[in-house]
Amino acid sequence: TYQNKESLYQLSEVAGEYFQDQLWKTEEGKNIALSYFQERGLREEVIQYFHLGYSPKNKNSFTQFVLSKGYKKEILEQTGLSIFKENSEQGIDRFRERIIFPIHSFSGRILGFGGRILQNHVKTAKYLNSPESEIYHKSKVLYGLFQAKSHITKEDNCYLVEGYMDLISLYQSGIKNVVASSGTSLTNDQIRLIKRLTNNITILYDGDSAGIKASFRGIDMILEQDMNVRVLLFPNGEDPDSFVQKNSSDEIENFFKYNIKDFIQFKTDVLLKEAQDDPIKKASLIRDIVSSIALIKNLIQKEIYVKECARLLDISEQVLFSELAQITQNKL
Ligand code: GTP
Ligand code: MN
Ligand code: MN
Ligand code: MN
Ligand code: MN
Repeated sequence: TYQNKESLYQLSEVAGEYFQDQLWKTEEGKNIALSYFQERGLREEVIQYFHLGYSPKNKNSFTQFVLSKGYKKEILEQTGLSIFKENSEQGIDRFRERIIFPIHSFSGRILGFGGRILQNHVKTAKYLNSPESEIYHKSKVLYGLFQAKSHITKEDNCYLVEGYMDLISLYQSGIKNVVASSGTSLTNDQIRLIKRLTNNITILYDGDSAGIKASFRGIDMILEQDMNVRVLLFPNGEDPDSFVQKNSSDEIENFFKYNIKDFIQFKTDVLLKEAQDDPIKKASLIRDIVSSIALIKNLIQKEIYVKECARLLDISEQVLFSELAQITQNKL
């Protein structure tokens, strides 16, 4: 209900304030979390701009705090911020000893949170997210969209990254038209959110095989929504955050300038490298690329891509057009 949703929004706002206070105003927060952010190269104004916070070690300090302010157990449970054992009034905090990333709606209300552990080599999951609730649907949200939306419109392009830290590091380095899918694999609803602002997406996934695989999937989904897609592949083992933290702004600018590829160039480069000189593999990679081209709605664009593809793969346009016709036929 409307009333219930309003309560969830309100509690989330209070929680966001609480986590920020813990970060900036407590010894534990300053010693453990603020220093963690600083070790990762984040400046104070950026930490503040994204409303980052800290949830302390104590197992129920947040839950006690909001219960004492009169918030109801049911609302705490629904946001997932507190977990109550059956029939117990004694709740524990979902996020403990984690740095906190609030996730905002398009209009800037807090919908949920992501929380990261401070040491890499502990057994629990590195990131923990709010569960689905009446206000938080992870497949319909993009992290950072609220902060990025005006920049996306201005640049008429949206960079798409995997993680919270990727987005924040890029922002700090001056690249502000960025959103993150934050661990969930990209959804059509998320692409639709971007399409309200621009027709152009540049994928900046991690430079590993998972990132490449996710890029291939993203390319086809974006083409299916009649948008343009480019890809920037990072050096092996780097993600946008690690790359930005290691390089100067000139180096970053040049890397972007010379390495962003149109999707067709990207797919061709990756697949040709995989295929080596194996003709069977090469034949199947041609099919793979043509199947992406088949998703393009605009006929002129489609033809341009076929010609580009023919050039890149050194194969006749004729063959590609008939392959395209066959793939299109099979889909009907
Ligand atoms: P850092 O180690 O902080 O730099 O994180 P990262 O963003 O580089 O992590 P990674 O590339 O492994 O994952 C990308 C994104 O996936 C993260 O930002 C999270 O949103 C999400 N993610 C990663 N690990 C987990 C996990 O254990 N659980 C959940 N729910 N999400 C995760
Ligand atoms: Mn806010
Ligand atoms: Mn990864
Ligand atoms: Mn990463
Ligand atoms: Mn990272």
